[in-house]
Amino acid sequence: LTSSATQSSVGNLLEVDLEASFDQVSIAGQKAKLLSYNGQIPGPRLEAKPGDTIRINFTNKLSQPTNLHYHGLHIPPTGNADNVFLKIQPGESFTYEFTLPKNHPSGTFWYHPHLHGLVAEQLFGGLAGLLIVRGELDEIPEIQAAEEQFLVLKDFALNGNQANFQGHMGIMLGREGELLTVNGELNPNFSIPKGGLLRLRILNASTSRFYRLKLEEHPLYLIATDGGSISEPVELSEVLLTPGERVEILVRGEREPGQYRLLNLPYDRTGGMGGGMMGRGMMGGGRMGGGMRGNRSNTNTPQTLATFSYKNSVETLPLPKQLIAVPELPEPQETRRFTLNHGMAPGMGMVFLINGEPFEMGNPDTVVKLNTVEDWEIANTGTMDHPFHLHTNDFQVISRDNKPEPYRAWKDTTLVKRGEVVRIRIPFKDYPGKTVYHCHILDHEDLGMMATIDMK
Ligand code: C2O
Ligand code: CU
Ligand code: CU
Repeated sequence: LTSSATQSSVGNLLEVDLEASFDQVSIAGQKAKLLSYNGQIPGPRLEAKPGDTIRINFTNKLSQPTNLHYHGLHIPPTGNADNVFLKIQPGESFTYEFTLPKNHPSGTFWYHPHLHGLVAEQLFGGLAGLLIVRGELDEIPEIQAAEEQFLVLKDFALNGNQANFQGHMGIMLGREGELLTVNGELNPNFSIPKGGLLRLRILNASTSRFYRLKLEEHPLYLIATDGGSISEPVELSEVLLTPGERVEILVRGEREPGQYRLLNLPYDRTGGMGGGMMGRGMMGGGRMGGGMRGNRSNTNTPQTLATFSYKNSVETLPLPKQLIAVPELPEPQETRRFTLNHGMAPGMGMVFLINGEPFEMGNPDTVVKLNTVEDWEIANTGTMDHPFHLHTNDFQVISRDNKPEPYRAWKDTTLVKRGEVVRIRIPFKDYPGKTVYHCHILDHEDLGMMATIDMK
């Protein structure tokens, strides 16, 4: 028999069957035909610990090819691990298997399809799930004592009771849906323990929609970003979460019992093209005006995502003072510059570009050395915002338009606003192989704003 010591030194095996299908599921209080993993929206939440091995027996019941990507995990980008170049045909099965390094950070990660050309549509149809790594952060006493909730933010568009894969806003701006769901529900209820702490783990799993989050009358104490813990809680009045990003937040039960809304505040990510030209122009203005307009893009009025109400709590909890230190990275050995923009290509219409080139399968665009540190200057010279995402290795944002970032954090996705230059610092660690970096507005990624990196 295996002793528990042996077990913990090699980690546990977590085995899951995952099936992608296009079928009836529950969404926003009704039944509709959507894309889902195991018939659930969001897909099943997977939980593991550093050192564990995850085996996913995946079956593709869709009518198109697909694959899986483990967004934010530090695991090999090759073989049957986090390999975005695999193609799993309709009707085929594939076994993914990888081991989380023993020093893998604890945090909120996720999985979703990543087959170039179909990513936006498959995500918009419903495919996405959380992948939680529990470790050091979860052992901090104040955090352990907090109540925990997961919030998967995802917008949907329906045509009758079937997915409308286009949504509004259009492919160019990035499709959005009018149903703003949290864990597949419209305006769900959560409770805040009076006097206690509530830990919210929030994922933006939308294809294109940004969320500017505010909880009425409650400051948000940020404790973790994409790649895990920050050094100490940071008090914020609101948080902007772009597609692919995650935050973990503590809420203190310090107000009068009552109801408080989690709001999505107005934010313009398209330089006026979203609410104006595309919205009114394409929808004809009248038919869906008034009440619906607020849901079609968040450039006008706040939208309610969820409602929080108080319940009694037995103990009063303080905020943690220290979390897990985020080290300062050494100076880079190499600095590169990338520009993000779009343009017209003959016969293709609008294409989205990195350094003037659309994504092409084949030769790597960037070759980096393992065990080195690089700075990447990402310049958005276009007219829309682009959240920039890198696979396999996390980075820290150093500055935005030369303004130093206010606190250190591990990130895998960060917003580069139109006209902005963001400097990120990346330690390329141990895993060799090819993977990608791209805009996480997945329509932009599918339309070319992606490139290949080779780490050797
Ligand atoms: Cu969340 Cu390359 O993706
Ligand atoms: Cu990713
Ligand atoms: Cu983009």
